Amino acid sequence: MATYTRMVLEGKDEAFKCVEAAVPELKDGEVLVRVEACGVCHSDSLAKDGRAGVQYPRAPGHEVVGIVEKLGPNALRFKVGDRVGRGWHGSHCFQCQSCLRGKFIGCDNTVITGLHVDGGYATHMIAPWESLAKVPDGMAPEVAAPLLCAGLTMFNSLRNTGVKPPATVAVQGIGGLGHLGLQYAAAMGYNVVALSRGVDKKELALKLGASTYIDTTQEDVVAALQAMGGADVIMCTAFNSDAMSALTDALALDGQLIVLGESPEPMKVAPATLLGKRRHIRGWSSGVPIDAEDTLTFSALHNIQPMVEVFPLSEANEAYAHMLSNNARFRVVLKP
Ligand SMILES: NC(=O)c1ccc[n+]([C@@H]2O[C@H](COP(=O)([O-])OP(=O)(O)OC[C@H]3O[C@@H](n4cnc5c(N)ncnc54)[C@H](OP(=O)(O)O)[C@@H]3O)[C@@H](O)[C@H]2O)c1
Ligand SMILES: [Zn+2]
Repeated sequence: MATYTRMVLEGKDEAFKCVEAAVPELKDGEVLVRVEACGVCHSDSLAKDGRAGVQYPRAPGHEVVGIVEKLGPNALRFKVGDRVGRGWHGSHCFQCQSCLRGKFIGCDNTVITGLHVDGGYATHMIAPWESLAKVPDGMAPEVAAPLLCAGLTMFNSLRNTGVKPPATVAVQGIGGLGHLGLQYAAAMGYNVVALSRGVDKKELALKLGASTYIDTTQEDVVAALQAMGGADVIMCTAFNSDAMSALTDALALDGQLIVLGESPEPMKVAPATLLGKRRHIRGWSSGVPIDAEDTLTFSALHNIQPMVEVFPLSEANEAYAHMLSNNARFRVVLKP
């Protein structure tokens, strides 16, 4: 009988443990994917920290790229040998009010990859066909993987703002998400501003498409952005509620603060800050497989690639620690 290996968390704050098991029989609509690469996203901390309804034991990982190895009954769209990807969106029900309106991302019964079902910290993953995206031929797995959450989230949130280039887009936090956000915003034709703590990332941020770099530990970031006329969009990937809230005053008229970083703490914003300039605060979560395919296509067209550091799957603990350290440049990727 065929077996597969997963790096699983058996409970809150536990280390990743290598577990081998028999590959289960595929159920209706399921696809067996041989994992080639899986990005380590900061949101994997939800699984590690016991948040967001994670169920143990769990193999995290929602930036998964692999090859279709086997199809269960009624698995549509894909064939054996196809290269596919899977992000945060682990499935939808087709039947709730959101799904019936075509808003699958808001599905009342959404299952999240790597939290509610096993993800890509593994040699194989079982996924419902509707959660999978096609990965373009010729795109390396370690390049495609981070695009399925970090890339998708930045590309999809920005393209849905309705703000037209060459408006000013600031990206707060230059990590996995942020370094791709700089590239998408530049490729879309915006005036891009990088907001980062310290100067370590300055050279890279300018290379990735920022026209301006603001060291938020030295400069008054609100004054600096207002001197440029205010930011039309600020994409907040810093997972700190105070740091995100503080940027509201840096928005231009009708400016949008896009909340992407995950934080359980409340944000603090004075209503007066919002109403005079008609500013918006908007959350955004990832996207569905067709958004992933658009992200991959746009990335290929504009030669947008993540900067990655590859670790073997067996070193998931080291890889995760490196991601947390803020020293990764910029996305850690596991390969079986
Ligand atoms: N909304 C979504 O769909 C979605 C999707 C994926 C991830 N996320 C969330 O987005 C966040 C970023 O994920 P990631 O994978 O890009 O993480 P990451 O690689 O660790 O990067 C996050 C960056 O945020 C900045 N930062 C960290 N702590 C901060 C603080 N206290 N104050 C200000 N800035 C701080 C740092 O940038 P500098 O060193 O440049 O300051 C860091 O590099 C996480 O909270 C993750 O859970 C959300
Ligand atoms: Zn993610």
